[in-house]
Amino acid sequence: MENNIKRHLDEISVFITTNPDELEQFRIKYLGKNGILNSFFEEFKLQPPQQKQALGKLLNALKTAASEKYLYIKNLIETDVSAVADHTDLSLHTNFGNYGARHPVSIIRNEIIQIFSRTGFTVVEGPEIEDDWHNFSALNFQPDHPAREMQDTFFIEQDPDIVLRTHTSSVQIRLMQSQRPPLRALMPGRVYRNEAISARAHCFFNQVEGLYIDKNVSFADLKQTLLYFSKEMFGAGTQIRLRPSYFPFTEPSAEMDISCSICGGKGCPMCKKTGWVEILGCGMVDPAVLENCNIDSSVYTGFAFGMGIERITNLKYAVKDLRLFSENDIRFLKQFENYV
Ligand code: PHE
Repeated sequence: MENNIKRHLDEISVFITTNPDELEQFRIKYLGKNGILNSFFEEFKLQPPQQKQALGKLLNALKTAASEKYLYIKNLIETDVSAVADHTDLSLHTNFGNYGARHPVSIIRNEIIQIFSRTGFTVVEGPEIEDDWHNFSALNFQPDHPAREMQDTFFIEQDPDIVLRTHTSSVQIRLMQSQRPPLRALMPGRVYRNEAISARAHCFFNQVEGLYIDKNVSFADLKQTLLYFSKEMFGAGTQIRLRPSYFPFTEPSAEMDISCSICGGKGCPMCKKTGWVEILGCGMVDPAVLENCNIDSSVYTGFAFGMGIERITNLKYAVKDLRLFSENDIRFLKQFENYV
């Protein structure tokens, strides 16, 4: 008897159906007047007293299992039927939970890459931990030149000089050393500077570097490329202006402003009422830098530019505090759910 009950317990545990007729057969089989349970109870009465306790327990377990399974399936079938009956909108999709969203800096980095890739730029990456040569010396920063202090550096070791890269310009050097011109690449990545953290400055942020080296590359090419980028990124009406500047690795160098995308050039807090906002540094690659990478500067010329991705993101989405990008506050990140 004991084994028989156990066999039925197993059978009940795997039983499932969506068919009401099959469920009714199940009910009759186990719980009906002439069903298995009643016949077991008849048999139970005839058992020797010393076995009754254990068998009784088992029999009750069978009864519970059969009635619970019956009610469970009945419920299942009825809910399903009533869903159709009251015309619940079955075309509505289920909430599959939270998928998360792309980080705004990633959204803008992808957009920058897409825009430049339309004019033939590929993507190259380099290490965040750099040596002095790639981050400074090859880029024409002299050993004790004050230009090194343009960027407050995190030194990991003084000798040999290992630094957290202060800009993505170091990747220019790696690219020029490993490939021959013509070169046309974008170099996105995180950079580090020893700055006090505030709404306007952070000790790490993201840049995208651009480099184009070929025969006969001119300043006009640089300007046209950047104008094209600005219009694609900020709208067809966007204007640019180039102001003379200084970087050790470009000559001539310039800083580029765009007409303020927030107020359209009328003047607002974002552009400090000037109508213009600075978005990047650029220039013609200094011949000394080409020579450092064994590229013949009498044959090749090129331009380079570097921009902060957070800065572009601030302008696109009117973000006022840089710290939001690294605090991972879900209320901030959730606002970008609909961007891809
Ligand atoms: N590396 C410079 C910076 O971080 C930007 C730059 C890149 C300027 C390329 C000119 C050319 O400020």
